[in-house]
Amino acid sequence: MSMDLSIRNVSHSFALQGGPLPVLDDISLDIPAGSFISLLGPSGCGKSTLLRFIAGLELPGRGDIIAGGAPVRAPGPSRILAFQDATLFPWATVWNNVATGLAARHELKGRESLIDDALELVRLGGFAKAYPHQLSGGMAQRAALARALVNEPQILLLDEPFGKLDALTRMGLQEELLAIWKRTGFTGVLVTHDVEEALLLSGRVVVLSDRPARVLRIFDVQRPLPRRRDDPAIVSLRIEILTALGHAPAGEVAA
Ligand SMILES: Nc1ncnc2c1ncn2[C@@H]1O[C@H](COP(=O)(O)OP(=O)(O)OP(=O)(O)O)[C@@H](O)[C@H]1O
Ligand SMILES: [Mg+2]
Repeated sequence: MSMDLSIRNVSHSFALQGGPLPVLDDISLDIPAGSFISLLGPSGCGKSTLLRFIAGLELPGRGDIIAGGAPVRAPGPSRILAFQDATLFPWATVWNNVATGLAARHELKGRESLIDDALELVRLGGFAKAYPHQLSGGMAQRAALARALVNEPQILLLDEPFGKLDALTRMGLQEELLAIWKRTGFTGVLVTHDVEEALLLSGRVVVLSDRPARVLRIFDVQRPLPRRRDDPAIVSLRIEILTALGHAPAGEVAA
């Protein structure tokens, strides 16, 4: 299940003591139901802010966000944001951590199997009774992903979900995320600093400017999934995107 997402002329400034801080500048994006896009941009440009607006946690100063044809005005279980520094509640088991959202909405009773399914999906079935301190970093990130997935979101917003992990763990989780996306079919918006991650997972890569973020360029990635890092088309797109971000890799030339 998934829904269209449309970001229409969204601009925003935060009010700070020294004056307004413009963070988003006329962002427009149309994201078809069931597609997966990535947002790349310099640190502090406004990516997490944009995800919070899509999630409905805050409202933008100007412009509209339309999800499944309806304007977003508040958070809802169809749009779930997995936070940049998602932490599990240390006092609760993995199972209870994943159940948090459903329990808060009084939707847990009779639907306990959803928790088990989400844990199976992220391959943590055997760790339902474990506590967060008994998990590795990668397992904790997977538990956080299960906590988002258990809501069966139509739109899943992922803010650097694998940011703190080592490269190998990250690769494994990227493959798992792809498999979960294929199975569940949510509309995905991934914020990442990892150009390769964006290219391996998404149909479109949106490059944002420095703050206030504008859409600088949009790259379509027309390669079948799963993709290979050493696919020449992916390699040359990676160089193009790094160049758009102002980081042309030394010794490499855009095709
Ligand atoms: N609630 C807030 N009040 C005031 N300023 C804020 C608030 N939230 C974010 N900002 C500012 O908005 C700017 C964009 O922040 P945001 O977290 O969206 O950046 P980001 O692109 O996600 O950065 P990073 O890649 O480092 O995570 C930053 O300058 C930040 O200080
Ligand atoms: Mg951020």
